Amino acid sequence: MYAVEAVGVWRFFSKTPVLRDVSFKVEEGLVFGVIGPNGAGKTTLFRILATLLKPSKGAARVLGKDVVGESAEVRRLITYLPEEAGVYKHLSGLDFLKMMKNLYDVDSKAVERGAEISGLGRSLGRKMGEYSKGMRRRILLASCLMVNPRLSILDEPTAGLDVEHSVYVRKTIKQHSAHGTTFIISSHNMLEVQYLCDEVALINRGTIVEQGKPSKLTSAYGVQNLEELFVKKTEETG
Ligand SMILES: Nc1ncnc2c1ncn2[C@@H]1O[C@H](COP(=O)(O)OP(=O)(O)OP(=O)(O)O)[C@@H](O)[C@H]1O
Ligand SMILES: [Mg+2]
Repeated sequence: MYAVEAVGVWRFFSKTPVLRDVSFKVEEGLVFGVIGPNGAGKTTLFRILATLLKPSKGAARVLGKDVVGESAEVRRLITYLPEEAGVYKHLSGLDFLKMMKNLYDVDSKAVERGAEISGLGRSLGRKMGEYSKGMRRRILLASCLMVNPRLSILDEPTAGLDVEHSVYVRKTIKQHSAHGTTFIISSHNMLEVQYLCDEVALINRGTIVEQGKPSKLTSAYGVQNLEELFVKKTEETG
């Protein structure tokens, strides 16, 4: 079974196509990166996979479940970190993890796991309104991972973070991937994508223009790194 299988997905906003005939598969256990310029359609695609938005045409299955017809089942199997997720300012980090544990109805150890994953130590007792952007992202990431999802969809998990927090987030993703969690992530940082992702899809103007293992893609195009490939392909298909 695939973690994700999208077949001919289209999404229109009013009459404008934002996703155009997107088809791809993600094998379980991979860290799969979706890259592409601003406005390419990455977040729209993620929201469809997370069942928050319906495809206008086509179909997508997540871990074998249809994102439209079996959306409740999909939601039980995945977690989703939105691009600009906010926090409950008046809750402490720990209370937030407890709330998420109850919401997901998972085992009582989940909160301990979340606290550990966040690495926030004593700051877990502070109100999240006092957290820095990096701390907020870490508590949100922890809440996504403490429930042991089969698939976690992370939309730009390190955007706007300093080096230390970015490294922490990447390390956490690597660790959980090593234990079998499948990830779909987006990022504008091609170094990060090259470091984290087993496979990438490059999306431009709503269409997947290239997909494969980073090392295979760079050698096929005779480029040094993903950034060069990105520039080449987006110019070609722009
Ligand atoms: N709810 C909406 N209503 C109308 N247009 C939308 C809506 N959501 C997204 N769009 C449009 O769809 C296109 C794709 O947006 P999307 O957020 O999916 O891109 P993205 O690849 O995630 O970009 P970024 O890298 O900036 O996050 C954009 O042109 C955007 O303006
Ligand atoms: Mg986006």
